[in-house]
Amino acid sequence: ASENETYRPDYHFTPASGWMNDPNGMFYLDGEYHLFFQHYPDTTVWGPMHWGHAVSKDLVSWEELPIAIFPDSLGYIFSGSAVVDRENSSGLGTKENPPIVAIYTYHDAEGEKSGSNDFQTQGIAFSTDRGRTWTKYAENPVLPNPGIRDFRDPKVTQILNSDGSKEWIMTLAVQDHVQFYSSPDLKNWSKIGAFGQNFGAHGGVWECPDLLKMQTPSGEDKWVLLLSINPGGPQKGSATQYFIGDFDGGIFTPDDKMIRWIDYGPDNYAGVTWANLPQKDKRTLFIGWMSNWLYGQVVPTKSWRSAMTVPRELSLIDVDGVLLLKSAPVEELEKLRQAAIEVDESSKLPSQAVELEAELDGSDAFALTLSNELGEKLVITKEAGLVSIDRTNAGKSDFQEDFAAAHAAPMSWKAENLRIFLDASSVELFVNDGELVMTSLVFPNSPWKTVEFQQGVKEGRIFPLKK
Ligand code: FRU
Repeated sequence: ASENETYRPDYHFTPASGWMNDPNGMFYLDGEYHLFFQHYPDTTVWGPMHWGHAVSKDLVSWEELPIAIFPDSLGYIFSGSAVVDRENSSGLGTKENPPIVAIYTYHDAEGEKSGSNDFQTQGIAFSTDRGRTWTKYAENPVLPNPGIRDFRDPKVTQILNSDGSKEWIMTLAVQDHVQFYSSPDLKNWSKIGAFGQNFGAHGGVWECPDLLKMQTPSGEDKWVLLLSINPGGPQKGSATQYFIGDFDGGIFTPDDKMIRWIDYGPDNYAGVTWANLPQKDKRTLFIGWMSNWLYGQVVPTKSWRSAMTVPRELSLIDVDGVLLLKSAPVEELEKLRQAAIEVDESSKLPSQAVELEAELDGSDAFALTLSNELGEKLVITKEAGLVSIDRTNAGKSDFQEDFAAAHAAPMSWKAENLRIFLDASSVELFVNDGELVMTSLVFPNSPWKTVEFQQGVKEGRIFPLKK
């Protein structure tokens, strides 16, 4: 890798250059998974936001396309979602060629500077050419601001009511809660409910919600509400919590008051799910920004900043009577695997991009260490019910004081197997195929050369991963 490309991942999505944060507006259409993202093309730090754009046929290899949505006189283009308006309810396309409608936040930076509170509004744009070009709706904004400073990140989903009617529901992050809005046409929105003030973690502002209908292992319908929070995450800085409950007529009722996190590592933020997946594909697919607002803008990459996590399939699991969200690596990632290398206690890593897979010995404790010739190491363990990734001595960390740390997550049930995805500057740990997940950035001064399985592993293998 050239000096400018050190730490560029092989198989995680990164923008060719410039700054990236949240994933936005993901939808599937005609064989393509679309991924948009918060993007500032001119520097490697946050700035006037655009929606960058990439497509993939398999969720694994991504092609970056030209910027989709540019800032305009109403403001920067902040996070949001996109839907395929199949019945042309918006009238922005035709029944034969339904429009794709993006719903996003306008952030008026001038308005913010001038001290007003109403600088965030919601706007829409549409595409009738498979997402290649976008036209802003002439009557934006479609949802004006009622005088609240944090009023953003609309996630729109279509709901089928019991009487057979369809309704667009927007979930919007509003300071310390979410608000639900309903619309027949994506253009006219009315508020139908709110949730959150007395529930969940509140160490920071709520951002980037998502509302999902899912099924429990016993086949019961449940609603899952994802909510990113910054700061106030379990490892400091930003993280994504979720609620499980029921949703009806704008009222979200959580099953309990437990606080749940989708990923217990420090580096998975603002993740949301894909819209319009094919009927035969019943999956719930998620991707997150693989960073943290604590240090996202100062990590030691040169020509670009930030990668996305690997795409993950979400499902509900029942652990000793408690429902939790599992995040498994999408099965398409197996296509990247090259011939497996069986591991001994200590094995050489063939490249920076590998998947480690291990069956554990039933003792519910494990330890493995990645190291390089400089004596840097990344230590992954489970001990006394705590899963931990320790990057204290794992390479560059002087860019921010919180970076060098060990992060731990409670796991009361047994660890049976591990999948660990390593790339140039990240580790994603999936215990029991994603019943517990930790995602962590790491910047070794030389790539990891060796993996040592010190404890708890019955059998393990290394898959070098194709670029
Ligand atoms: C989350 C976030 C969103 C906002 C966007 C701006 O990381 O702060 O709330 O829309 O980033 O880039």
